[in-house]
Amino acid sequence: MESMLFSPLTIRGLTLRNRIVVSPMLTYSAINGYTNDTHLAHLAKFAVGGAGLVFVESTKIDPRGCSTPRDLGLWKDEFVPGMRRIVDLVKCYGAACAIQLGHSGRKARRSVPWEGRTPLKNFPGVDHGEQWDLIAPSPIPHAEAYEAPREMTHADIAEMVDAWSQGARRAEEAGFDVMEIHGAHGYLIHQFLSATANKRTDRYGGSLENRMRFAVEVVRGVRRYWPEQKPLFLRISATDEIDWTIEDSVALARTLGEHGVDVIDCSAGGMLDSGPVTNPVEYGYQVKYAKAVRHGSGVKSMAVGMIVHADQAEEILQAGEADLVALGREYLVNPNWALDAALKLGIPAPYAQLPPVFGHYLSRRQRAFKDVRNSTWQMGIRGDGK
Ligand SMILES: Cc1cc2nc3c(=O)[nH]c(=O)nc-3n(C[C@H](O)[C@H](O)[C@H](O)COP(=O)(O)O)c2cc1C
Repeated sequence: MESMLFSPLTIRGLTLRNRIVVSPMLTYSAINGYTNDTHLAHLAKFAVGGAGLVFVESTKIDPRGCSTPRDLGLWKDEFVPGMRRIVDLVKCYGAACAIQLGHSGRKARRSVPWEGRTPLKNFPGVDHGEQWDLIAPSPIPHAEAYEAPREMTHADIAEMVDAWSQGARRAEEAGFDVMEIHGAHGYLIHQFLSATANKRTDRYGGSLENRMRFAVEVVRGVRRYWPEQKPLFLRISATDEIDWTIEDSVALARTLGEHGVDVIDCSAGGMLDSGPVTNPVEYGYQVKYAKAVRHGSGVKSMAVGMIVHADQAEEILQAGEADLVALGREYLVNPNWALDAALKLGIPAPYAQLPPVFGHYLSRRQRAFKDVRNSTWQMGIRGDGK
């Protein structure tokens, strides 16, 4: 049986070398929103290791949308050259490069996770860190300890739609292959979608259609600047801890698919602080959402969440549960996961996943070992199959 994990996938004008995606992961390393060597080192190793698509972490389109003082930004043109360095490096190793653009809304302005994600008054020592309003669809705080956000006016809504659109323009200028709108994890777009966070009585609140309006406007705004031949992804919380359901997500995917979203990246939760990322979870705990969205809406989907093993990833694709698999924490364990998976699945010429210089020497090492041991033993898999 031919591997789907290692077969290319074409979406619009982009062909990915395989279906392995490195999920967006905040490094909390930016200074004043700018990229630096940490981002280069973090992301380049995944491209070297054979991933098909490498995501730059959640990058903010408005300084007020920063979760922490260490978030990356794309709210001004000065950020483009640093991003271009990342894109060039990732692409030179044969991976495609994606960026996730987000805004944290009422969940902005917090300390970094290992300092407790505590709500902050401002970001001292950061250029964009002066006191600012938290903005959200309604003046309802995320949780008790949080400040109540200011309800967004129609001018604020138009400004944020434009900020996402300008972010798309800058992402294109930096050379990204894929852009993802962050609509998940209790952040601004999810806040508009949620009947609990959004109590507006105008055309942006009330019915599902009204609560989806902000997301639709962001997608339409982004599509004006994001080229026709480039894929657009949207990350959603397919369900949350309060009232957003998988049926709502299917309806959202269908609507946004009509406006130019190509892939729905199916995460979950984030409306409460104890989301599924920190709760006990099983292997592939969110795959069912990718499957439901894919089958219910006809839009491509990406599965994410405790996808760890090569055969597990292969089975998700073979079963038609998703079009792409994204891995986060396992990539922190093993940046060469694609090579490891190719060895474990018995893909022909597994070392071709790596740049030729390394592939060449590792293939030779494998051949040498075969000669010595006269067995089918492969590097990366012990003779006893473990
Ligand atoms: C260190 C870290 C940073 C993360 N940053 C982001 C982010 O920037 N945007 C996002 O949508 N999800 C983020 N996530 C969630 C991951 O993308 C992924 O959905 C989650 O970790 C589940 O997948 P996994 O089990 O393969 O890690 C982050 C997760 C981790 C561990």
